[in-house]
Amino acid sequence: MGVTYDEKERIFKLDTPNTSYILGVVDEEGFLGHIYYGKKLKNSNVSYLLRTQEPPFVPSKNNRERCSFYDRFPFEYPTGGVGDYRESAISIRTQKGHVASQLLYKDYEIMDGKPALEGLPATFGDKDSCTTLKVICEDSIVGMQVELFYTAFSDADVITRSVRVTNTGKEAFYLTKVFSASFDMDNEEYDMLSLHGSWARERHMQRKPLGYGIQNVSSFRGESSHQDHPFLALLGKHTTQETGDVYAMNFVYSGNFRAQAEVSQFDSVRMSMGIHPENFCWKLEPQESFQAPEVVCVYSDKGLDGMTTAFHHLYKKHLIRGEYKDKKRPILINNWEATYFDFDTGKLLSIAKEASKLGIEMLVMDDGWFGKRNSDNCALGDWFVNEEKLPGGLSYLVDEVNKLGMKFGIWMEPEMISPDSELYRAHPDWAIAVPGRTATESRQQYVLDLSRKEVIDYVYERISAILKSANIEYVKWDMNRQLTDIGSYDLPADRQGELYHRYVLAVYALQDRMMKEFPKLLLENCSGGGARFDPGMLYYSPQIWCSDDADAIERLEIQEGTALIYPLSTMGAHVSDCPNHTVGRVTPFETRGIVALAGTFGYELDVTKISKEDRDKIPEQVAMYHKYNDLVRQGDYYRLASYSQNHKFDCWEVVSEDKTEALVTFVQVMNRANFKSRRLLLKGLDADKYYKIEGEATVYSGDTLMHAGILLQNMWGDFQAKLLHFVEA
Ligand code: DGJ
Repeated sequence: MGVTYDEKERIFKLDTPNTSYILGVVDEEGFLGHIYYGKKLKNSNVSYLLRTQEPPFVPSKNNRERCSFYDRFPFEYPTGGVGDYRESAISIRTQKGHVASQLLYKDYEIMDGKPALEGLPATFGDKDSCTTLKVICEDSIVGMQVELFYTAFSDADVITRSVRVTNTGKEAFYLTKVFSASFDMDNEEYDMLSLHGSWARERHMQRKPLGYGIQNVSSFRGESSHQDHPFLALLGKHTTQETGDVYAMNFVYSGNFRAQAEVSQFDSVRMSMGIHPENFCWKLEPQESFQAPEVVCVYSDKGLDGMTTAFHHLYKKHLIRGEYKDKKRPILINNWEATYFDFDTGKLLSIAKEASKLGIEMLVMDDGWFGKRNSDNCALGDWFVNEEKLPGGLSYLVDEVNKLGMKFGIWMEPEMISPDSELYRAHPDWAIAVPGRTATESRQQYVLDLSRKEVIDYVYERISAILKSANIEYVKWDMNRQLTDIGSYDLPADRQGELYHRYVLAVYALQDRMMKEFPKLLLENCSGGGARFDPGMLYYSPQIWCSDDADAIERLEIQEGTALIYPLSTMGAHVSDCPNHTVGRVTPFETRGIVALAGTFGYELDVTKISKEDRDKIPEQVAMYHKYNDLVRQGDYYRLASYSQNHKFDCWEVVSEDKTEALVTFVQVMNRANFKSRRLLLKGLDADKYYKIEGEATVYSGDTLMHAGILLQNMWGDFQAKLLHFVEA
């Protein structure tokens, strides 16, 4: 496993337990080509795939067709302007205004473990879990060195990639595009799988055939977004949940991104991912470097299940950090849908009192506790407790909550500023805006210009003061609008194109600082629901609010799309009131609990106002959470059926690592007339072990459950859910 270099053939081979990734240097000029990514190979002698023996040959042997070579060669990190007309991975503009560049191989280094990426979130690992290859390329005309980093993990079928660009010349140049990963493959007629959505409808899966030309998903909203997701997978035409080829990329970044596939005239596919080039322009002075974020690449020959397993394993072991990395999270009750802005200490304490009796472990006070914030029209930035609502301040409220045996958590939206706020009146230039142009409001708020040190310092000072003022054990960090009017009052003209990325770096720096000062804090990221659910944020917070839509049926597609990549332990999921506040649907309380069990689990309702019948079910749900959460959090996740595809029912499973137990969750969305039972095949069990459903006598062998399956009786009514707990017999 790890990385090997065949010096004679000039071929690098990266191996994970079941995959190989091969790249090589050809010709005396040193073109870096992508040779192979797929099922593990014993040897690296597959350089014939570069087709350098076929016309138009390599340039040194046939300079007449140099352009044809460039436009056809499977480049590992393509540049533009000299003859490859496919999309480049990197673009620059020199002081003279030239944009052509060409990267040629120079050197390499193989390292144990994985170096951190300065200022950026990234996966991590030590010498026992990964090996890193650095390939150094240069453009001596521009004066640019590009280091391509590849890490092969030994405990997950994952290769990560990132790029660092250094100005080695004597003059500044502008980096106008820098993708983090790109490779060329032969086209086997792929489908493209991506995740799309909207507010309250995040990460719905979309699969469509890949055609000629460029197809991409992207965001230039300043965050990863509700609308598109920094993920792309190419699937073989016949790939299913369990079988077939999948090539996937996921971006460890929380800002603008582009993920794309381009099918060329020669039926090759270029798959790439990186920071969206729209509005991106980074000035690099001599000796300065730019570190691009990381892309996680997965190849699976076991369909989507194989891909999901690789992502989940990597993120659980090598991305999520801190106190709660492997810990059960407290069951929380959040007052947002219970009260919206209409609350005070008395109301919060009455919710907490009732909740504590039912076994709920933490009260989270949402939006509306600071400044004059009685609606979403004002006060963002004024992070001072509103003592009219909370007499005695936070310390009184938190102490009272703690006396009930509950923890206390708080909501903040640190990146924002309301035009109607003390902060804006004092510092109107702290908002992102183009001077002279009225900036576009969204939810009647602006975004703070976090590229400015004084703004970051103010925001951090407020966060830190609030967190020190009482025993606050959880923060919900929200972000309720996307970026527009990209302009900073502070940055010089030729650095305005750096604002989007500087903004994201500042968010990371703030969260990093907060987690270093308050290491025991449980941080949940959120962005108007799930608009910043990405691996970048997971590096700082072990859980992210999945969506503002907590309707149990809407959540099926949202959670399916989210769990396609991210472990169940990361998905913020709550039981909310009915009729549901987003779609008006009424679902059984039990079903809401069972669907929320697939995530972090909590409540989003006024426990003093719901019916006694529902309230009485909470202790049972609390017990259910405590019984199954270790399995849900740590087990291997499998998708058994998808409501988004069959429009009838949804079904997923988690299996413990030692395969001694499994939990199957089945949600019957619509009942059907004249229909008795449904056959269901389990996955991931030990074929040689024997299992029974807890509370039942029948014993099944693992192979029976996986190949013959069980029969699930139809349930009476729509929106019904069932849990089946399989234990070793
Ligand atoms: C959006 C979040 O997703 C909600 O849960 C809530 O915190 C509101 N913001 C508060 O403004």
